Amino acid sequence: MFAEFFKNKNYLITGASGGIGAGIARALATEGANVGIHYNSRYEGALKSKQSVEAVGGKAIIYQADLRATKNVKTLATEFISDFGSIDGLINNAGIILKASIENADEDYWDDVMRINLRAPYILSRAVLPYLKQSQGVVIHNTSIHEEYTTEYFSAYAASKAGLKSLTKSQALEWAKYGVRVNSIAPGVVPVERTQDYFNQPDNRALWLKNVPLNRFGKVEDIANFVVFLCSDKSSWTTGQSYTVDGGMVARSNFPFRSEPALPAKPVKIEN
Ligand SMILES: NC(=O)c1ccc[n+]([C@@H]2O[C@H](COP(=O)([O-])OP(=O)(O)OC[C@H]3O[C@@H](n4cnc5c(N)ncnc54)[C@H](OP(=O)(O)O)[C@@H]3O)[C@@H](O)[C@H]2O)c1
Repeated sequence: MFAEFFKNKNYLITGASGGIGAGIARALATEGANVGIHYNSRYEGALKSKQSVEAVGGKAIIYQADLRATKNVKTLATEFISDFGSIDGLINNAGIILKASIENADEDYWDDVMRINLRAPYILSRAVLPYLKQSQGVVIHNTSIHEEYTTEYFSAYAASKAGLKSLTKSQALEWAKYGVRVNSIAPGVVPVERTQDYFNQPDNRALWLKNVPLNRFGKVEDIANFVVFLCSDKSSWTTGQSYTVDGGMVARSNFPFRSEPALPAKPVKIEN
């Protein structure tokens, strides 16, 4: 589908030591791209991710950085450019999903979530901008359905993702003049290593699945394939948008389930 588009192109994916980030790395490599695999604590995960990229013929380099610290974020950008020489896409995927009550979680909780989920994408985007201008590359932020809808105990997470959605728009508008496109992807429920114990419980699966109209959870490939599309020239007229990929979950919002109405016995006749 993408012909030779991704050949010799270089992408940096943050948080690629497992879950959705690892899926994105593999999907881009499958199309012929080279990837930078960033991780924070899971070196084994990053290695596995690298091996899965190499298994499809891609080149991968691993980078470690705790994205809470400004200098680490900047070093990550410098190291990637020094190794690859250019960048065609930055995928800001790293994120922490921490449930906490506002009453009990202090400002350190808030700051950590903001630093990783919102501040680091801002700093990293700025750091690679000179190179994105040269490649007319893309930035993709991984937000969440929490960018728009949320529940109790997700205050910092939802605020960070709403902020990222908003950043997507400003950044797209400001960087359109450079030919740099900026979009987001907002995944629904995608079981990953981090959540597998929870979703392996039949009761938990049933609780969530009844809210997913397409009646299955997301796979990392569902998100990764969309990211590949957003990186490619097949999406060359889109920028400043966030795309929900959630099996239909948020389309229902809070409406109760309805039973299917019986059809009227006879169609109502209209006089022309
Ligand atoms: N899975 C879902 O249902 C879902 C739904 C909506 C949105 N998302 C978003 O998708 C993204 C990936 O999440 P995931 O579900 O695939 O979970 P995940 O496997 O836990 O991925 C999170 C990534 O973020 C990295 N990270 C955590 N703290 C960090 C820090 N201080 N500095 C740098 N990197 C850090 C982790 O690195 P290490 O593991 O190496 O520490 C990991 O690679 C997140 O932004 C999340 O909000 C996920």
